[in-house]
Amino acid sequence: MTPLDYEFLRKFLKERSGLDLSSDKQYLVESRLIPLARRVGLPGIAELVMRLKGLADPLASEVVAAMTTNETFFFRDKIPFDHLKETIFPALVQARASRRGLRIWCAASSSGQEPYSIAMIVKEFAALSGWRVEIVATDLSQAVLEKSKAGIFSQFEVQRGLPIQMLVKYFTQTGELWQLNADIRAMVQHRQLNLLQDFSHLGTFDVIFCRNVLIYFDQDTKIGIFDRLARVLEPDGVLALGASESVVGISDAFRPYPDKRGLYRPSAVRTARAAAPAMALKLVASAR
Ligand SMILES: C[S@@+](CC[C@H](N)C(=O)[O-])C[C@H]1O[C@@H](n2cnc3c(N)ncnc32)[C@H](O)[C@@H]1O
Repeated sequence: MTPLDYEFLRKFLKERSGLDLSSDKQYLVESRLIPLARRVGLPGIAELVMRLKGLADPLASEVVAAMTTNETFFFRDKIPFDHLKETIFPALVQARASRRGLRIWCAASSSGQEPYSIAMIVKEFAALSGWRVEIVATDLSQAVLEKSKAGIFSQFEVQRGLPIQMLVKYFTQTGELWQLNADIRAMVQHRQLNLLQDFSHLGTFDVIFCRNVLIYFDQDTKIGIFDRLARVLEPDGVLALGASESVVGISDAFRPYPDKRGLYRPSAVRTARAAAPAMALKLVASAR
């Protein structure tokens, strides 16, 4: 790959998905894009770049998808889900007692293991029984969202992080595959959304899981996203980040939740802005 083609691809990927590739990742780009080029009948990366320079080529989203990491599994890192049960839900059950409703956003939800882990916890949390709990799962990739909507997982996928009791209770086996039961699937609404773009139309949330996606972005992109996340999080809401992610030293939009690693609250500075909520969008059944 020529240095010019690499520079073009770096810029293209940063603009489309936020992916921030350092100057020495040519091997990674080649290992992912040469097979894609061959699959669509192109000799190599130079021809792929030519196609991307054309207007609105459908190959653009395939290139982004090929460079995106969709790694996920049920109850990933365990601790954030324990926090949900032990700290976040008990506090919100009290704080929202008159509303009896919660809105949870799983941003960058990949193939669904994360939002469905949350859904299973909601289902098991007795004090939320009879509440209106909306779980909104969004991702840049339409392909992973389609997989998530189907709620069908391989033996390998259900063996990663999912307690056997939950497998038996909430899934139905069909041959080698396992499908989440319809009641759990119906708890999650799916929408395609690029975190680089405006998301204020989603309304405000009590809990946001935005995990293992910001690590791929540069500092300025993270700052912008934290700022906008703070505006759609209720003043007493909670943001959960991935194990290797933090707001500390990057943004003052959030402050760490006391004694709970990986959890953050909107900072007081932002709370005034967040208090003017956008109207929650009615998510239509077809988005499920
Ligand atoms: C590594 S997965 C993380 C999945 C899940 N949050 C977890 O922690 O297990 C990262 C996900 O972020 C999505 N993603 C990447 N860039 C994005 C963007 N700009 N906007 C929204 N989602 C994005 C990818 O499609 C992928 O599904």
